[in-house]
Amino acid sequence: MKLSEAKSRIDELRKELEEHNRKYYVLNQPEITDFQYDILLNELDTLEKKFPEFIIEDSPTIRVGSDITREFVQFEHKYPMLSLGNTYNEDELRDFDARIRKSTTELIEYVCELKFDGASISITYENGALSRAITRGDGTRGDDVTLNVKTIKSIPHSITGKKLPSEFVIRGEIMMPRAVFDRLNEERTAAEIAPFANPRNAAAGTLKLLDPKIVASRSLVCMVYFLLAEELPYDNHYENLKEASEWGFTVPESIRLCRNIDEVLKFISQWDTPRKNLPYDIDGVVIKVNSLKLQKDLGFTAKSPRWAIAYKYKAEEASTRLLSVVFQVGRTGTVTPVANLEPVLLSGSTVKRATLHNADQIALLDLHLNDMVYVEKGGEIIPKIIGVDHSFRNETSKKIVFISNCPECGTPLVKNEGEVNHFCPNYLHCPPQLKGRIEHFISRKAMNIDGLGEETIDLLFSKNLIRNFSDLYDLKAEQLVPLERLGEKSASNIIKSIKKSVDTPYHRVLYALGIRHVGETVAKIISGKFKTIDDLINSDPEQLTGIREIGPKIAASIIAYLIDNENIEIIRRLKLNGIRFSEDTVTKKTGNTLDGKIIVISGVFLKHSRDEYKEMIENNGGKNSSAVSGSTSFILAGDNMGQSKKEKAVELGVPLVSENEFLEIIGEE
Ligand code: IVH
Repeated sequence: MKLSEAKSRIDELRKELEEHNRKYYVLNQPEITDFQYDILLNELDTLEKKFPEFIIEDSPTIRVGSDITREFVQFEHKYPMLSLGNTYNEDELRDFDARIRKSTTELIEYVCELKFDGASISITYENGALSRAITRGDGTRGDDVTLNVKTIKSIPHSITGKKLPSEFVIRGEIMMPRAVFDRLNEERTAAEIAPFANPRNAAAGTLKLLDPKIVASRSLVCMVYFLLAEELPYDNHYENLKEASEWGFTVPESIRLCRNIDEVLKFISQWDTPRKNLPYDIDGVVIKVNSLKLQKDLGFTAKSPRWAIAYKYKAEEASTRLLSVVFQVGRTGTVTPVANLEPVLLSGSTVKRATLHNADQIALLDLHLNDMVYVEKGGEIIPKIIGVDHSFRNETSKKIVFISNCPECGTPLVKNEGEVNHFCPNYLHCPPQLKGRIEHFISRKAMNIDGLGEETIDLLFSKNLIRNFSDLYDLKAEQLVPLERLGEKSASNIIKSIKKSVDTPYHRVLYALGIRHVGETVAKIISGKFKTIDDLINSDPEQLTGIREIGPKIAASIIAYLIDNENIEIIRRLKLNGIRFSEDTVTKKTGNTLDGKIIVISGVFLKHSRDEYKEMIENNGGKNSSAVSGSTSFILAGDNMGQSKKEKAVELGVPLVSENEFLEIIGEE
């Protein structure tokens, strides 16, 4: 590799790793797995060793990622909070052991601990009282989250004990039990808030909430793994942790004292299966030298202690043959390549298909038909192809190329600049897109038609009984009864439910039409300005863009929808069937405390749903808006409000109002 090439690859890797650090530590929304991250970091480390002239002090190989955020006050760590070197294989663990043994003639003991996957915390106690809890931050200083940490039941506020140092720091991992995580994500999905990717992100996100009451409701736990003080009770790590357990901290039962590296390896393999059934996620095992004296002799590198290492369990992978690639068209027209594989056993289940994500991924893998490919399955993610074993490549095998036309309707595919996915632009006639729009039309927040699910829609579609949602209103029970899976009773229920939907209010009908960029809020705003659909159809583009909440993108999408004759025909038929296309004039106004106020709702709430809050705002004279701007009066901020909204609010000085404060303002509490 030439110097210039090395330099540019190093720069590229640093930039990429820094961005992944930000996504992981600040946004709590990682895009790649730890394993993929470690591969990139390893490449950078190798290059820096080969080209030491390019080593800089704040390279991701030297500095730890930072979780520092603006909302909290930062404090310095009395003892820097470092990271751990890690490995995925046995040989490197044996190397670690050999290095340690070379440095001493004394007998070595290792402590093995499970590596809990959460957010790390450093808690200081003075004279037995919890005085401050700080996140890792950048390793030197971190965010003060004391109030939040004090809500965690397994962390004592005050302790007594014979061997208690007058001041000490205890470190541990804050985690969200998987059961709590599942429940939280269900709530978030129902409230149309992006669910957390995994319990680690949920725990880290919760720790950074501004309302400790919500933190308390999330049942976090803390497992401690490190005790620091000027004078510690014992001269070894193991006994110090056992002592901390006496003081009331949660020290995992799984911790083991091992006399040599073989016992360590045994511990690792013993936990390989049971780890999957723990109530918490763990991603490996931490191996620490037990003697504090030896720890001190071994010391630290800039980033991690030389006396400890993390062994990480790798997502399981298998190799198998690629039989074919099919292209699937999703409900919104996005085309996803999917690989059909020779069935292979992977983490206890048979894998026959794997996602290939997009055209870039296929090109990156340089995939050919009949290739032997590596498949990986991590957690609940769909299996994916992570590499090709080129030694098995047959000279004559055909290269996989991304299709240029939609496999469902033949329309040439489109890829927008800056986007990774191809999509089919034929939204009016491409079957999966048509079905997707019908599914949206019948959904709970739109027309709320019960008894019709995805499968029934597929069935009706395949029997040519419906082509678009206006066809639903022409269906007769007699047509449904003979269909597979549908009996007389469910057929008549479906018809009843369709009939009932004609009473759906105008703004929800507007939302149900599925006009791109017209969500519930925009639909409500439009229904307020254009009292009938004809007013909307006959409006000038200027009238639309004149509405403060409607930008050019939304306006263009509404106009494009309404100049399409096929859409107008659908609307005409819906009208004939009695669907409401005008606003009722009954108002439910209950107060005027919010007159003239423009309010943005963000986050999850405890006492009412987001929809209920939207309604309360309107009933009290306020207006809902989805974007934070200079004219936003305040943000009704729930738990976990979006990062970008938060940043914007700080920048523009828009106040945040909590759920309780809001209820007080409108006189509900
Ligand atoms: S010891 C200097 N022990 O892993 C000692 N860390 O990759 C550093 N972690 O920041 C930490 N379980 O958040 C240690 N049993 C354990 C751990 C553990 C999880 C986390 C911790 C640390 C990170 C390092």
